[in-house]
Amino acid sequence: MKKINVSAPGKLMLLGEHAVVYKYPCIVTAVNQRMHVRVEKTKDTLIAVNAGQVGIKNYKKDIEDIGKGDIVKELKFIEIGLKNFKEKYGLPCGLKITTKSDFSSKFGFGSSSAVCVCLIYALGELFNLNLSKRKLFEICYKTVLDVQKVGSGFDVASAIWGGTIYYILGGKKIIPLKTKSVPIVVGYTGIKADTPTLVRVVEEKYKKNKKLITSIFSLIESLVIEARKRIENKNWERLGFLMNVNQGLLDSLGVGSVEISNLVYAARKAGAYGAKLSGAGGGDCIVALTNIKYRKKVEDEIKKAGGIILKVRTGENGVRTD
Ligand code: MEV
Repeated sequence: MKKINVSAPGKLMLLGEHAVVYKYPCIVTAVNQRMHVRVEKTKDTLIAVNAGQVGIKNYKKDIEDIGKGDIVKELKFIEIGLKNFKEKYGLPCGLKITTKSDFSSKFGFGSSSAVCVCLIYALGELFNLNLSKRKLFEICYKTVLDVQKVGSGFDVASAIWGGTIYYILGGKKIIPLKTKSVPIVVGYTGIKADTPTLVRVVEEKYKKNKKLITSIFSLIESLVIEARKRIENKNWERLGFLMNVNQGLLDSLGVGSVEISNLVYAARKAGAYGAKLSGAGGGDCIVALTNIKYRKKVEDEIKKAGGIILKVRTGENGVRTD
């Protein structure tokens, strides 16, 4: 095989963000907006990258220099991913890598982890390595930590496994839930959140108020454990309630914002079962659990409150060859 096209899904955190960094569980779903990566073997010793979605054209670096010297910010996940792959399996030839995304990197759908998962999966296929999901996870999660220093790895797991999963830090547990999709409306606040900064906001609070914040994490843990069952039983009313409680607890961790609250309250007022931020907070998206009857109204009210509706399906397939 000389070239391969692969894709991996973006993700949305449904419940448990931030607490997951402290070893508590979370639930994440894969969406139908995907990252696409084509990898071609070449006869030279260069890694050539075109990544239109982050404005990178015709970037070239010798295989020898991968992971050394200046690393272009937009290509960190690709270059460090390649470095980690090369250290484990070697890189016997040059590569032409082209990436294209269905979604903006501003949404918080996990474009960096999806691109890394696509790349390593593609290399595994190109070089016939038969990489298991676990092996793929290990190398991609290491890359996330090398680049970002923080992160639970839930986004990497979602890009690999797809569907809706119950996840514990470092991939200690990755359990696919028995559900096809969760009926949510997604509203984008228009503000890009910086995950490492927000993780540090919570860390500061945790260091100063260990007992109190640990109690908040424990509450999040109980509601995530219950939510797992509610999702499988399609008990949306109760799940909506759990999402609202989760939102209150996230607010108390200091990761809410006026823009998030405006969209959350608009969705609830329009009849959503529940609504909360999704991901790091500070901006990005909200998810509103909604039955079909109120869907249009929820979308309209989110728009009126300043949000942008992102049309997504949940529970989509993980990384695959296209
Ligand atoms: C960010 O999308 C979710 C956090 O829990 C960080 C992480 O789990 O890596 C805040």
